[in-house]
Amino acid sequence: MHFGDILEGTGSGSFYVFDENTAPLFGREMLEVLNDRYTVLPAGEQYKHLATVETVLEKCLSFGLARDSTIIAVGGGVVCDLTAFAASVYMRGCRCILIPTSLLSMVDAALGGKTGVDFGGYKNMVGTFYPAEEIRVCTRFLQSLPEAEYVNGLAEVIKHALLGNRNLWTLLTEEKEKILARDSELMTQVVDYSLQVKGHIVEEDFREEGNRAFLNLGHTFGHALETAGGFETWSHGVAVAWGIRVALSAGVALRVTSPAYAERVNDLLDSYGYPSSADADSSRVLQAMEHDKKKRGGTLRFVLQKDFGETFITDIDSKIVEKAVTAHLHSS
Ligand code: GLY
Repeated sequence: MHFGDILEGTGSGSFYVFDENTAPLFGREMLEVLNDRYTVLPAGEQYKHLATVETVLEKCLSFGLARDSTIIAVGGGVVCDLTAFAASVYMRGCRCILIPTSLLSMVDAALGGKTGVDFGGYKNMVGTFYPAEEIRVCTRFLQSLPEAEYVNGLAEVIKHALLGNRNLWTLLTEEKEKILARDSELMTQVVDYSLQVKGHIVEEDFREEGNRAFLNLGHTFGHALETAGGFETWSHGVAVAWGIRVALSAGVALRVTSPAYAERVNDLLDSYGYPSSADADSSRVLQAMEHDKKKRGGTLRFVLQKDFGETFITDIDSKIVEKAVTAHLHSS
């Protein structure tokens, strides 16, 4: 598969950031055209830190990039977040183009201007709000993803549908086979609907002072599960899908969520193979939530839904939280 066309017109003075997974997609010939004006980062969340940003900034300096130069990220969420962060601080902000290659980065990381790296043991603890000047989406990249990485991104697509896009919900329920087969044309539509949902929310609340937090549906619980598994057992998406189930259970227990709606969502998540119960120790998951609470100044807010597209943010009594979490855990 040839991806060179996605870089067309990005400018001869630009600097490109790939990782070990995305550079090979372009082949030696294409990379030679870039005249060494690129770097290939090691792949993985463990490299999403300030030292990697520094290597990108050093390269930008050595190639004499100016404030009107462009840094271009070609990769998944780590590459996009980290490169956009580097662009936001290089000479107090230079131009940035993002070319997301994973489903997760196409529908989430690339849009909305959140940049950053992990710091002090917390994910995305240091960063800026700095929207990319341009985002180039090519769903042919999806063919290059390992299955687990694709499933990781689909959970965020499902979340976007639940936030209120009927067209996306219809595609997810009626075109599951094509979606799972990564049909390029259909996925262009799926990504487009997904970006419409996120774009609309971000436009209204760029700095997450209000409803942007709706995008965290399933994330408070999901993040606790990811943490309890040391970020190795569950991918972000699988944990978010699990977290959506827990949020719906909590909502039903609070008598705010329609049980019929919760059942429809659980059926959809089942049909895409997301586990309804995770093999984890409840005390570790609840402890991770406490840890998160500390980071957030002592309060945890939960994103719940009454029904499709009816989302709100609330505190939840710790007993209900505990019950909803435990109902979706088992130990082997
Ligand atoms: N990933 C959630 C947000 O961009 O706000």
